[in-house]
Amino acid sequence: MLLVAEPILGPEEKTALAEVIDSGWLTMGDRVRAFEQAFAEVHGVEDSVAVNSCTAALHLILHALGLGPGDEVLVPALTFVATANCVVYVGATPIFVDIESADVPLMSLADAEARCTARTKAVILVHFAGYLADREAWRDFARRKGLLVIEDAAHAPGLRQVGTFGEAAAFSFYGNKNMTTAEGGAIIARDSALLETIRQARGHGMTSGTRQRLNARTPTYDVTMLGFNYRMDEMRAAIGLVQLRKLPGWNEVRSRLVADYRQLIAERCPSVTVPFQQPRLSTFHIMPVVLPAGVVRQEVIDHLRENGIQTTIHYPPVHLMTLYRELCPGVQLPRTEDFALRELTLPLHPRMEAETVELVVDTLARAVQAETVVKAVA
Ligand SMILES: Cc1ncc(COP(=O)(O)O)c(C=O)c1O
Repeated sequence: MLLVAEPILGPEEKTALAEVIDSGWLTMGDRVRAFEQAFAEVHGVEDSVAVNSCTAALHLILHALGLGPGDEVLVPALTFVATANCVVYVGATPIFVDIESADVPLMSLADAEARCTARTKAVILVHFAGYLADREAWRDFARRKGLLVIEDAAHAPGLRQVGTFGEAAAFSFYGNKNMTTAEGGAIIARDSALLETIRQARGHGMTSGTRQRLNARTPTYDVTMLGFNYRMDEMRAAIGLVQLRKLPGWNEVRSRLVADYRQLIAERCPSVTVPFQQPRLSTFHIMPVVLPAGVVRQEVIDHLRENGIQTTIHYPPVHLMTLYRELCPGVQLPRTEDFALRELTLPLHPRMEAETVELVVDTLARAVQAETVVKAVA
């Protein structure tokens, strides 16, 4: 089965893991610190904080920014549920915002503006599929409205422009991401004081960690703020250090594969559209396409699957999940809902080659064609 996403792990990661085991120091040691510094360097910033997931990263950012009950936070509904969950974790209210269009399935600035109230305090931008939101426009909007900007950059590690929009950015290293530590995440922030608050809150709010106490030879510590256990361990950091070196090359391969997809779909399957027609900075995390109206998506999925090709959907909209229908009733987002009904995510990962892309597009073309013929006969 050709999978939608695949981690690439090899002998270097195995060696790095073995070295951690041999070292006898398993968590929050030198490798975590080295990973934080290397990740920061890739993003052209001074420092970063490594955590055990992007969800933890988002929670820490919202917590450190002091968002809480009574505050409203603008979020897209075309995202993974974690983006909205972290707003609920701090007791604030997620306000779902529609996408711009099927071609630009990023949060709509006009709709965000329409949903602002006196309680709106922040906006979480998601770089959907790795395509960066429009920095200047969101910065101006946030300044005008006095809002904090947080980037959910789960899909976008490795681009220097990420994390420069607002207060802080959260990244994911989950197994299907552009680089992986199995589970894991990282945070960068514009203000070093905010980053240090986040660092402390990651480890129960303690003023020092086990390693620092060993080096300082003092067994005592204080807790000066509410914190969590969102620490990263040395095994993940060791894998992350290897993956980070390979990330720029992998993002390049992704970019070439997406260019191939775009060209072949236009030639062989023109009724299927590919979002983001205009060039835009991207890490090319996933390959979303939009099926023509009227085509039964499940038939297309089944046809591809019968031919050994996995596909998925990004995303079942968060505002339509049972939990969020209960928490935030009556939300209607027509563009998000239409996009989510017609979207299909094709395989995209650096193990693929140009021939694999061709195979997927030809199979997709046959599936869509068969569906169209069935409709014509009916
Ligand atoms: C847009 C987005 N935000 C947040 C997350 C949460 O990431 P993690 O699984 O690392 O907590 C994901 C993960 O898939 C995601 O796609």
